[in-house]
Amino acid sequence: MCGIVGYLGKKSATPILLSGLKRLEYRGYDSAGICVLENGALRTFKKEGPIQMLATELEKQSLDSQIGIAHTRWATHGRPNEINAHPHYDCHHNIAVVHNGIVENFEGLKILLEKEGHKIVSETDSEIISHLIEKFYKGNLEQAVLEAVRLLEGTFGLAVISTSENKLVAARRGSPLILGIGPDEVFIASDASAIIEYTNQVIYLEDNEIATISESGYKIESLDGHSINNQITEIKWTIEEIEKSGFEHFMLKEIFEQPKAIANALRGRIKDDKIKLSVNFDSKKIDKIIITACGTSWHSALIGKYLLEKIVGIPTEVDYASEFRYRSPIVRENNLLVVISQSGETADTLAALREIKNCETLGIINSVGSTISREVKSGIYLHAGPEIGVASTKAFTSQVASLVLLALYLKEQISGQLDKDLSVELLTIPEKIQSILDQAETIKEISQNLVNAKNLLYLGRGINFPVALEGALKLKEVSYIHAEGYPAAEMKHGPIALIDKNMFVIFIVNHGPIFEKIISNMQEVQARGGRIITITDTKDATIEKLSEFVITVPSVSEELSPLVNIVSLQLISYYVASANGINVDKPRNLAKSVTVE
Ligand code: M6R
Repeated sequence: MCGIVGYLGKKSATPILLSGLKRLEYRGYDSAGICVLENGALRTFKKEGPIQMLATELEKQSLDSQIGIAHTRWATHGRPNEINAHPHYDCHHNIAVVHNGIVENFEGLKILLEKEGHKIVSETDSEIISHLIEKFYKGNLEQAVLEAVRLLEGTFGLAVISTSENKLVAARRGSPLILGIGPDEVFIASDASAIIEYTNQVIYLEDNEIATISESGYKIESLDGHSINNQITEIKWTIEEIEKSGFEHFMLKEIFEQPKAIANALRGRIKDDKIKLSVNFDSKKIDKIIITACGTSWHSALIGKYLLEKIVGIPTEVDYASEFRYRSPIVRENNLLVVISQSGETADTLAALREIKNCETLGIINSVGSTISREVKSGIYLHAGPEIGVASTKAFTSQVASLVLLALYLKEQISGQLDKDLSVELLTIPEKIQSILDQAETIKEISQNLVNAKNLLYLGRGINFPVALEGALKLKEVSYIHAEGYPAAEMKHGPIALIDKNMFVIFIVNHGPIFEKIISNMQEVQARGGRIITITDTKDATIEKLSEFVITVPSVSEELSPLVNIVSLQLISYYVASANGINVDKPRNLAKSVTVE
């Protein structure tokens, strides 16, 4: 949510900052800005709208600078416009600041600063920071930033430059920031995708740390003045992984990457009749599991509950991370808290994790080196590769595959025996998903029937109820069509009132004990004129009769069925949205990584 890039080195700063912004655009895309220090003056350019607007403006300029900062915004305080776009200035245009996060006490600070004569021009909370730095500036930028951030309540990841010193200062509390280290140059970025083109050597700034970068190198200190020697980490992925590679959108590319992503999540983890995970706790002691997450990751958590209770037999609760920390959850020493996050930076999920100190914690995370991955006691990395599309796809299926692994691992640790059938079958999932992707053209044709829909219901049961939720979320996110996921049998307790001849209902129907019951639910919809699309693993004459369209998926064990059922729903969302001309990689109002609460 919002992206920051900074550069100090020997190269021209502007193209580096601009390419970094383009790579970070998935974090926010309502406005963007750049500021470079040139011949002792700060030169700033801001534009409302996508980064391309800023790029077009910059083409008209000739800028000669080796130091600068840039920002792509997802609005929290203040509308998306040029005044509210970052960088923000002090009163005399000597200090420029880009900020991610929320300054919660900004109203109070604003009153104080205005009383002292500061002129605040934007509606943002962020502008306060540049005026506070101005207030404290006495010839040392780093010192002024230190004093300013000590007054801030809330979260920040920020980068600052000034006219008086050839320095770049960055500080972090609650909003991710990394330093990229190259020969004779240092980068600052919200995440590695912004700088991977230039360096794969990074340092993750921790909360309450400040970095000062100058021509002589960089130093990192804690906000209370202690010097810190953070490790340099090598980023393992490559620039190709964050490019579209011939696909029209990242979302489509990532849907098609799922066979590979799942194979990566499983690689080396099912071996010699054992499940290999880096888990540092005694599984036999765990008497309850609590899973917390947001959005799509919360849907995989719901699937995790089914898996863990069915396969391992440990009672499992699932909570929205944003709710978990504000109720009084009962967490005991022998419980296991599982946090699931693609980005590893979601503010609510991180806050929930930090709330709980007394039990084992395990992260299921995609983004290597992210804050959550560093704060959990044990972890399972998805290894799905960078997910750029705002709508999560390959991370979801990799999370579900990882949850199956976790369940198999706990079962094996507790009982001493591996569920061999399920683990062997799990390894076949990539090819099963490929067979659904091979039907993409047919699914595209079916999707054309939905482009004018106003409302949809997604119905599934058991382990596929969360798949219905996820299918509906995907459609809402990228096509702006209202959709609801429901347990199929619950439909008659309310949502059935919505059904008429204009209503499409997507059913997920798998073989198994509730097959007949779900067929009855389909009858109920058809009797009221509803139009049915069915995703099923079963060839059945009644399904054919009741459905306008049927998408057949490979038959797998119930535990693995979400992994095959979700793929057609992802494709439907993609094709409906793109038929409606929506840029699915940048759906309105959304940002990839939600780093504010
Ligand atoms: O990075 P996380 O998995 O923690 O993100 C959680 C949600 O913000 C995320 O899944 C969101 O719902 C996506 N836009 C879903 O497509």
